[in-house]
Amino acid sequence: MILKKIAHYQDFFIDDRASIKDAIVKMNLNGDGSVVLIDENKPTAILTQSNIINAIEKNMDLSKKAYSIATTSVITINEDRPVDFAFSFLSEHNIRRLVLINEKEEFSGIVLQESLFDYMEENTYKIDLQILHILEKNLSVYSIDKSASLYDALELMKEKHIGSVIVINGKDTIGILTEKDILKLLCLDIDLDSNIQRYMSTPVIKVTKDTLVIQGISLIRRKNIRRVLVTDTEDNPVTILSSHDIFKHLKGKRQDGEYLMMQQFKLATMGEMIGHIAHQWRQPLAQLGGVFMNLDSAYEFDELNQNYLKDKVKNGTELIEYMSNTIEDFRNFFVPKSNKEVFEVNECIKSATNIIQATLVYHHIELEIITSEEPAHMNGYPNEFSQVILNLVNNAKDILLQRAIVSPSITIETMIKKNQIIILVKDNAGGIDNAIINKIFDIYFTTKSKDGGTGLGLYISRLIIENKLMGDITVSNGTDGAIFSIYLNKNEFIL
Ligand SMILES: Nc1ncnc2c1ncn2[C@@H]1O[C@H](COP(=O)(O)OP(=O)(O)O)[C@@H](O)[C@H]1O
Ligand SMILES: [Mg+2]
Repeated sequence: MILKKIAHYQDFFIDDRASIKDAIVKMNLNGDGSVVLIDENKPTAILTQSNIINAIEKNMDLSKKAYSIATTSVITINEDRPVDFAFSFLSEHNIRRLVLINEKEEFSGIVLQESLFDYMEENTYKIDLQILHILEKNLSVYSIDKSASLYDALELMKEKHIGSVIVINGKDTIGILTEKDILKLLCLDIDLDSNIQRYMSTPVIKVTKDTLVIQGISLIRRKNIRRVLVTDTEDNPVTILSSHDIFKHLKGKRQDGEYLMMQQFKLATMGEMIGHIAHQWRQPLAQLGGVFMNLDSAYEFDELNQNYLKDKVKNGTELIEYMSNTIEDFRNFFVPKSNKEVFEVNECIKSATNIIQATLVYHHIELEIITSEEPAHMNGYPNEFSQVILNLVNNAKDILLQRAIVSPSITIETMIKKNQIIILVKDNAGGIDNAIINKIFDIYFTTKSKDGGTGLGLYISRLIIENKLMGDITVSNGTDGAIFSIYLNKNEFIL
């Protein structure tokens, strides 16, 4: 799923020459506490509730330009990015909404954090998780007496950096007032000295600490609210929980799930790697055995002189060096590099295929590599890219063996078209059944139940290509077999 499909557009933008007041009207129309300011369709700033609250605090004239109080460093993101990417992006930048732009860099919509709830896979967080499990340690809830004015409430929110307060009557919670409520009132020219009781939301939607998080989410959605009051079993208010708080937490849970999956994948890859090492060492090990046998028989036949010995030692040392180098290759491959670097795609493909070369030779699988004429430079993560190539070649090898193909072969071809680097990985194993071709990139999808497939190879390959290298990966069936196509942007990638 791409971000464009879940974005809101209507009423989420306004010309950047508009007044603060007009902007507030838009915010109320779209129901979110934000509006994007645009100039000739391009986003120039974003205005949120807190900007407005600040302005009101400073007694600013609301007929002034909205731009003057807005945040001008707008973080934008391409509308074609996958939803998955948004999760990490939001929390990385600690923001609640994504401003989407199209390829012309024009504003094309806003994705709210709440919309992403629908895309959280259920298996990534615990079904039996309760509200109390996701609460912070030091909780507080701010209350204000029913006799207070709207202005008092606003001041309290500002002072404590909170988005809402509860209204109490003695020990009873009788209402809740949020920043958003106050903004609405401003729009209606309501005097901030008025009493809060007339404008607070009531009754207060409550959950107890032992409510399931999932139930909390569905309550928030059903009632179309942003916050619920959490109480203990004696009905004392504990804290106000916002959908943002829940999101932040579930993001964490999701990451835990992702971490486990990565571990699972690494373990499986490690197993495959050991298989490849075994193949690479088979020959030098046999040769090394031969060296010793030669020495042994030379001694027996009294032919062992210094020259002979030196020659054989040199022979053996070379073999050991070769073996040690292959181990080094594998090790380098596994060391994750967190920094982006410029790498050359053809070279990367060569080093990745070196690792599996001996295995392919052992199985009589022919590997053809067609490099692009020009060098294909790319800014990104070479190890991750190699991982993808290795996954694809491994899959091709598996299917070629499984179907016992006569003269099995794998072709990797790199091409450069305009600013794009295209990499094709083809085999002649007969292709992928149409019934499953749409599922092969899904997490845990595998047809290798007997042979211990994990169903993670292609899922992770797609994550790497889309989220780390900002490219695309697709699959189709050619005349001989499957064709995996990777599309990358040359040199730089743009967020
Ligand atoms: N080159 C290919 N030809 C035919 N089927 C393939 C090919 N590559 C992958 N597949 C199918 O896609 C499935 C998922 O692959 P992957 O995600 O790597 O998981 P795994 O290799 O653990 O099964 C495989 O089980 C296989 O059915
Ligand atoms: Mg695989």
